[in-house]
Formats: sequence, C-alpha cells, structure tokens
Amino acid sequence: MSGAVSRNPDEAQRVALTADALAGLSAARKTLPCKWLYDAEGAALFEAITRLPEYYPTRTELQILQDSGQEIARAVGPGAAVVEFGPGDGAKAVELLGALSAPAAYLPVDIAPEWLEAAASRVASAFPGLRVRPVVADFTHPFELAGRADGSVRLLGFFPGSTIGNFESDDAVTFLRRTRGTLGCGAHMLLGVDLVKEAGLLVAAYDDSAGVTAAFNLNLLARLNRELGADFDLSGFFHRAMWNADKERIEMHLVARRMQTVSLAGRKFRFASGETIHTESSHKYRPERLRAMAEAAGWRAADMWTDPKGLFSVWLLAD
Ligand code: AVJ
Repeated sequence: MSGAVSRNPDEAQRVALTADALAGLSAARKTLPCKWLYDAEGAALFEAITRLPEYYPTRTELQILQDSGQEIARAVGPGAAVVEFGPGDGAKAVELLGALSAPAAYLPVDIAPEWLEAAASRVASAFPGLRVRPVVADFTHPFELAGRADGSVRLLGFFPGSTIGNFESDDAVTFLRRTRGTLGCGAHMLLGVDLVKEAGLLVAAYDDSAGVTAAFNLNLLARLNRELGADFDLSGFFHRAMWNADKERIEMHLVARRMQTVSLAGRKFRFASGETIHTESSHKYRPERLRAMAEAAGWRAADMWTDPKGLFSVWLLAD
C-alpha cells in the first residue's frame, strides 16, 4: 500500500490498488493481494461461494457459533462491544450479538465502505437500539478505533471466517499482537480458524464444480480492467487451487494459458505460457500451532470449539 494521502476514499483506494498491482506484477513470482478480490462483484461471488456444497467453512463456523453461543457469552461477560474485522454481510455478527448478554455496541471494520453498509444495516435492524459504528480502515495495517468505542467498555474482537488464514503465519502473529493493543485491557478475541485436513476436501472447497471460485478469482483481473484500464484478456487465464503441503495452505493462482503481454497504468507485463499470478493463500492450522501463535502474540487461548467432524475451529482468546 502506498503512503499517498487523499481525502477521497475512492481515489485513495485507486492509488493503493495501482501501487499493489504494479508491485505484484513486477515481482519475479507475480502476485496480487487477496484483499482486492472483494469489490462489489467479488463480494457477490464470495457470498455464492459460502453457499456451495464444497465450501464447508461458513456453514460449519455458523453452526459452531450457534452451538457454543451460551458458553461464549458466559466467558465474555455482559456489556462488551463487538469489533468485527471484515464483517461480510453481518450474518455471523447477528448470531454472536444474539448470544451475548447486553452487548454495548457493534463496530464493523472494513476497507470497503459498501460492505460496511450491508453489515451495519443488517445488525441495526436485527438489534434496534444497539449502537452501530462502522469503521472504514484497512485492518491489514495498523489503525485506531479513534473514539468510536467508549473508553470504559470492554471490547470483544471478532475475526471469523478463517480470514486470519490469508495472512502469512508471521503476519498473523503480528496482526494478533497488534489487535490486542487496539482492543486494550481486558479484551477478548473470538477467532475462526480453518483446520488442516485431507487435501482432497480442501482443494474441492477452493475449486468447486460449478466454477464459482474460478469466477471469483478471475474477477480480480476484470477489476483491474474496470478500475485501472488494464487490458487483461480473461480467456487467457484459468483458475487453479492447490494444496501447498509444506506451508499447509491452499493457494489460488491465475494461470496464463499462453504467452501474452498485458498493459496496466502505462506499464507492460509479459507472461510466459503457464506462468501464474498468486492471488490468495488460505492457511490451515493444527490446534497446537494456533495456540502457540496466539500465545506468541500475548493472548491466552482460553477456549476452543470445533464441529463433530473437526473441520473448523472457533477460539476465544483472552487478554
Ligand atoms: C474469506 C478469506 C476466509 O480463504 O476461505 C474462499 C476466501 N477464497 N474461496 C477463504 C475464499 C476462495 C476465504 N476467506
């Protein structure tokens, strides 16, 4: 992300997207940050992914939240304000807020204002009278809650969906350490984490038979065409999901079908046939490793819940 300052959020996002695209496509191994997958089209495609038969994480996590809501509420205590990182459509927040006793407020944090709007209005209509204060910020970088939370209230961070898996493991620890600082004294963090499992199940979840994940991935190139005037030929690339057993992560790539050259922001980028753009990593964790990471970040792993098949986990971290 560039350090450019702009008063216009759209322009600031465009500047940041351009900088990230130029840097990523210039690298020896081409890459694009996965946060740019979620424009309006990408968000709609991701919603469709969450309903696919192969994509188990969303429904499994929601089930865990439903089954463990009372235990979570008891551990967190009454009157906490929920700070959600990447709220999506707000459905999981509705589940969590419904279980908590007398939540003080809901503060969704996201880089994309249109996402915040959807989550905020869903939560506001489910809980009339609850304080709802959206925060536009890129939580992959340090940010302040700046007066949005009453200083006396205890905060509960909420980071569901295994979005933590998108970080490199070192960056995940940095994120956890930093959010402990952002959330302050006596805070909790409720964290959704996808677990290591058989590679076949993982690859199917990221390369579904209906081709929705492929469309989600390719939309990133379409976005660069729409927003930055790039000239990617979408038929020149295909989606690949692979299990990296070494790093215990799913990787999404866009693979060039043939040699080609693409222009973006006045620069030309050459692709060899078969060359890939790495667009997302989704790390999967073993419970003991996640616990060690949380503790390295200064949290105490207070509790962990999983589903009967052990596909997914929800962690309660305590300050
Ligand atoms: C929303 C980032 C958690 O990694 O499983 C789904 C995104 N990418 N299918 C994930 C995603 C392809 C998802 N996260």
